[in-house]
Amino acid sequence: MTTPWTTDELRRCVSPLPRVELSHLPTPLEAWPRFAEALGGRVRVLAKRDDLTSTGCGGNKIRKLEFSLAAARAEGCDVIVHGLAGQSNYCRQTAAAAARCGMKCVLVLALDHKTDGVPQGNLLLDHLFGAEVRMVAPAEQAAAKEAVMAELRAQGHKPYLVGHRDEVFGAVGYALCLAEILEQASAMGQRIDAVCVSGRLGTTAGLVLGKRLLGFTGTVQSFHVAPSSSDEALRGPTVKVLNDAAAMLGSGERFTIDDVRNTDAYAGPHYGEPTPQCLEAMLLLGRTEGVVVSPVYTAKGLAGMVDFVRTGRIAAGSTVVFVHTGGLTETFAYNEEVYRAAAGG
Ligand SMILES: Cc1ncc(COP(=O)(O)O)c(C=O)c1O
Repeated sequence: MTTPWTTDELRRCVSPLPRVELSHLPTPLEAWPRFAEALGGRVRVLAKRDDLTSTGCGGNKIRKLEFSLAAARAEGCDVIVHGLAGQSNYCRQTAAAAARCGMKCVLVLALDHKTDGVPQGNLLLDHLFGAEVRMVAPAEQAAAKEAVMAELRAQGHKPYLVGHRDEVFGAVGYALCLAEILEQASAMGQRIDAVCVSGRLGTTAGLVLGKRLLGFTGTVQSFHVAPSSSDEALRGPTVKVLNDAAAMLGSGERFTIDDVRNTDAYAGPHYGEPTPQCLEAMLLLGRTEGVVVSPVYTAKGLAGMVDFVRTGRIAAGSTVVFVHTGGLTETFAYNEEVYRAAAGG
């Protein structure tokens, strides 16, 4: 690495990118002392509250949507098209952000066991935010998105399909998030030893990018929420986003999978299925700090962090930041699992 950038230099490199304001930044960096005490009092725990990014009930995707929607506008697009899991947080935030920018949003969502019956959780909010929602079988989703794009073009629209470049925007947003964390920690008189987060793509990539560009010497540890077939499958996609984000900022830095720390050890057998450890972490946090992490992403990440603390992989005496990336609204689609855990059964 050449000389690290200051946080202001990083912001200067980001400033040419078009951006709309969808959140009140910086999000808070707060202490979780009762949670830390419940883990044995060996580490100090701080939380970066990116669940409070405001638009659409908040979450990590708002940071990237600030760039995506500005790019869509600059390119003359008038409809945002996206599609992931039926209870996707990303799609819910996209629907809200599009509404806020006065743009139409079409979501092509995959049917699964959390989309049955009257819409709940994120799917309910997709409707509330005015998105046109089309539910399809998972195997048909990619073709259905292309069909929607063709249909919109035939109607005279210029649609914007959310994809890889938006992950790169996410990484830019999370390099900036690390800058906020370091500035806030310094104002609190804290030195950060580790930053933990759930996921694998833009968010992780951005924190790793920020670490390199800003010369942060602590670790960035990610916890993926679905099992991976190989190490390359787990960390390779992050590296692609990382290198594209570095290039987007005009940095010559290059990354390999050795730069990414991620584990799928806390994912359980399936994406979208809460594990006993994630439900335990969720209850522990709710009952010590009154904060909700959610069963698909943040509770699995927090479960990983809890285990790292208990087993000493985050060393005693450390100050660790949990980046809370949101997802509260998905919890309501998991009311049975969460209620059973909360009721002790
Ligand atoms: C609440 C939450 N946390 C973390 C992530 C992971 O983010 P990324 O895809 O940038 O790794 C997601 C992705 O949808 C999410 O919804």
